[in-house]
Amino acid sequence: QDDQFKKVIAHAKEYGYIFPSSEIYDGLSAVYDYAQNGVELKKNIREYWWKAMVQMNDNIVGIDASILMHPTTWKASGHVDAFNDPLIDNKDSKKRYRADVLVEDYVAKIEAKIEKEVTKAAKRFGDSFDKEQFLATNPRVLNYAEQAKTISKRLGQSLEKEDLADVKALIEELEIADPETGSKNWTDVKQFNLMFGTKLGASADHAMDLYLRPETAQGIFVNFLNVLKTGRMKIPFGIAQTGKAFRNEIVARQFIFRMREFEQMEMQFFIKPGTQMHWYEHWKEARLKWHLSLGLGPDNYRFHDHEKLAHYADAATDIEFRFPFGFKELEGIHSRTDFDLANHEKYSNKKLQYFDPEENKSYVPYVLETSIGIDRMFLAVFSNSLQEEELENGTTRTVLKIPAVLAPTKAAILPLVKKDGLPEVAKEIFDDLKWDFQVAYDEKDAVGRRYRRQDAAGTPFCITVDHQTREDQTVTIRHRDTMDQKRVEIKQLNEIIGQEVSM
Ligand code: GAP
Repeated sequence: QDDQFKKVIAHAKEYGYIFPSSEIYDGLSAVYDYAQNGVELKKNIREYWWKAMVQMNDNIVGIDASILMHPTTWKASGHVDAFNDPLIDNKDSKKRYRADVLVEDYVAKIEAKIEKEVTKAAKRFGDSFDKEQFLATNPRVLNYAEQAKTISKRLGQSLEKEDLADVKALIEELEIADPETGSKNWTDVKQFNLMFGTKLGASADHAMDLYLRPETAQGIFVNFLNVLKTGRMKIPFGIAQTGKAFRNEIVARQFIFRMREFEQMEMQFFIKPGTQMHWYEHWKEARLKWHLSLGLGPDNYRFHDHEKLAHYADAATDIEFRFPFGFKELEGIHSRTDFDLANHEKYSNKKLQYFDPEENKSYVPYVLETSIGIDRMFLAVFSNSLQEEELENGTTRTVLKIPAVLAPTKAAILPLVKKDGLPEVAKEIFDDLKWDFQVAYDEKDAVGRRYRRQDAAGTPFCITVDHQTREDQTVTIRHRDTMDQKRVEIKQLNEIIGQEVSM
């Protein structure tokens, strides 16, 4: 697992997807830059989401609010008081950890043991293996599952009650050690605010203390009334937004999974109070369907319903994905009730209400939120796509099977040789296709090596111009995943590529 994850990180750098930030100065912890291919993949993920949420739903509109917001926003939202993480220090190593993450990692290890038992049994029983039945009856697996559930429940309950002494007691009872040094000598658990502070204005006396937003959602709440009026919206309706968010994460690690500067894609769906469970189920289903549509495999997703609820929610679930380091949260779906709008009403003295013509009365709408980090989605797609295949001739190939709709470069145009007029024809095809698709031209090295390079970079199609092209206006088109090659007419290329890559 660790090895696979290391390969993912190294591949992301080598093929121009992700670089450590400010690397010439040895980088900045948990901050990363998106490189020439990474920026395309990230843009495509954003567009794929935007199309599904905004373009395909006639009752959802988008906005783009500022990162800097009036400081009272964060009082109203509860972030100043409640956006705290429980931290614990190791007295020997002096390292600081999130106490809940230490416990969650312990639970993940138990879950990994279950997976191991399943894999072992599947091998032993072959075709007759029934996973569901195995999970429901095998005593060892049942015992692990019970342990995991009991620990998660206790953690959830103590966090909900803000019983930090019990979180510490749990860590001690489980004999959880510092992951780096193995020491079990812990301090008490304390709360720590995650927001990045900054100042507005030049003069020290008059500067106003601001925060960089820790979530994009509040930009939507403060614009609720403006959008409602100018968009002539009728409940139920949604406001969607993508943009940067900042959190001074203590345990920022696992590559781009948990960063200090990241990007969210959030949608707030404004609904009539009392209908939240209907919409909660609706959006759980819709969002899972969106994920499955990318074809990364249904076994890689699961829901994790929360026992411990954030300060704003009355129901919440995560869509978890099987990352190289195990199942972890990819997206959150939260029933936020009227928590945000009602608090903004209180702090701003503005009426943030909707007049419902059917009910003939005004109310503060409830909110159902879907919230996903682009960077986590990027990691899910990228890590799942990186594969090493044994070929028939005994060699292996590294291939990045990014879904074609998301792939940074859709096709590479390759002249078979660098002479006989083939580069000229290939460049003509390149110049024609670039109007519609992100394409690449490559004439360096033998064609086999160029195929491998494009496989590893994630390009779904290679188009090769050979001597026959000059006679009959045909080329070969090679599919990355199957390596199948077909001869097609140049004039068909646009349609063939378009069919596979259009969103
Ligand atoms: N508005 C609700 C909200 O922000 P959250 O569960 O704190 O909820 C939502 O965050 C999503 O944002 C997560 O599911 C994750 O995909 C992403 N996310 C949160 N913190 C992150 C971090 N430090 N680095 C990368 N992505 C993060």
